[in-house]
Amino acid sequence: MAIKVENLSYSYEQPFGEKVGALKNVSFSIKAGDFAGVMGHTGCGKTTLLQLLAGLRLPTGGRVYVNGEEINAKGYDRSGLRQRIGVVFQYPEYQLFATTVEKDVAFGLKHSGLSRQEVIARVQWALETMGFDFAKVRNQSPLALSGGEKRRVAIAGVLARKPEILIFDEPVAGLDPHGRENFLRFVKEMNQAGTTIIMASHNMEALAGYTKHLLVLEEGRLIDSGATREVFLRLQQRNNWAFGQTKAQRIATLLAEGNLALSPAVVTYDDLLSALKRELTGGGKG
Ligand SMILES: Nc1ncnc2c1ncn2[C@@H]1O[C@H](COP(=O)(O)OP(=O)(O)OP(=O)(O)O)[C@@H](O)[C@H]1O
Ligand SMILES: [Mg+2]
Repeated sequence: MAIKVENLSYSYEQPFGEKVGALKNVSFSIKAGDFAGVMGHTGCGKTTLLQLLAGLRLPTGGRVYVNGEEINAKGYDRSGLRQRIGVVFQYPEYQLFATTVEKDVAFGLKHSGLSRQEVIARVQWALETMGFDFAKVRNQSPLALSGGEKRRVAIAGVLARKPEILIFDEPVAGLDPHGRENFLRFVKEMNQAGTTIIMASHNMEALAGYTKHLLVLEEGRLIDSGATREVFLRLQQRNNWAFGQTKAQRIATLLAEGNLALSPAVVTYDDLLSALKRELTGGGKG
C-alpha cells in the first residue's frame, strides 16, 4: 500500500489554549513495498506523524492518502484502514491486558469475520513468527513474561491481523543487541515478503542498516528525504548536525582526520568493514 502526504500539519492544543505546532507542512510519498525510516531529535514530531499516517489523529492541515484515497475524507472506510495498517507503539508491552497470551494476540481479530479455527491458526502463526512455541505460551499470562517476550507478544497481536503496512515507533529501544538484530531481521523479512514498513527510531545503525528511504524531521519540518545512504551522506555535510550519523561514519571521520580517507564513503558498519579490509589487503589504492 502506498502512502502520500500533502502539506500535512498538526498542532496540539495546550491546556491554556495556546497551540504547539508538532508538524508543519510536511509532504512526501512512500511507495508500496518500501521500508521507510523516520529520523529526528526527540520532540521533532515522529510519533505525531506516525499517528496521522495510521489515521489515529485528524490533521489540522493537509491530507493523507492511502492508495490514492484520502483517509480523512467523508465516507472513507476507516475501520477497513485499521485492519490494513498495523501500528506498534513505543513500548507496546504496556498494551497487554488479556488473561492469556492467546487471547491477547487474538483480540485484534474480533471483528475480522474469521472463524474460531481460523483465528487460532492466525494466532499460532503470529506467535511462531515471533519465535514462540505456541503450545507452551498460549495459556500463559502475558504478565508472567519478560520485557522482551512481552514486546514480541504485542507485536504478534499486530501481525495477526496481517496488515499491509506496518508502522513501528521506536521498536528497538530497550532491547538487548541480540533481540534488536533478531527483530530488525524479522522486519526486513516482512518487508521482503511485500509488507510496507515505516519505522521511527533514534537508533542510527537500525535506520542506516535496514531502511531503504529516510524522512528527516526537525522541529516538525521535513528537512531531508530520499534514499537512506544518500540522506546519511548529506546529513554528514551539514554544519551543526552531529545527530544523524552512524558510529561507522564517526569512525570513518576520525580515520580521515588521521589521513586514512576511506572510499567509497562509509555509512554502515558493513561499509566500514569492507573499506578497512580493502585498505589492509592493499586494495584500497586501487
Ligand atoms: N499529547 C500532547 N499534547 C501536547 N503536546 C504534545 C503532545 N504530544 C506531543 N506533543 C508535542 O508535540 C511535539 C512532537 O511530539 P512527538 O511525540 O511527535 O515527537 P517525537 O519525535 O515522537 O519525540 P520522541 O523522539 O521523544 O518520541 C513535541 O513538541 C511535543 O511536546
Ligand atoms: Mg515519539
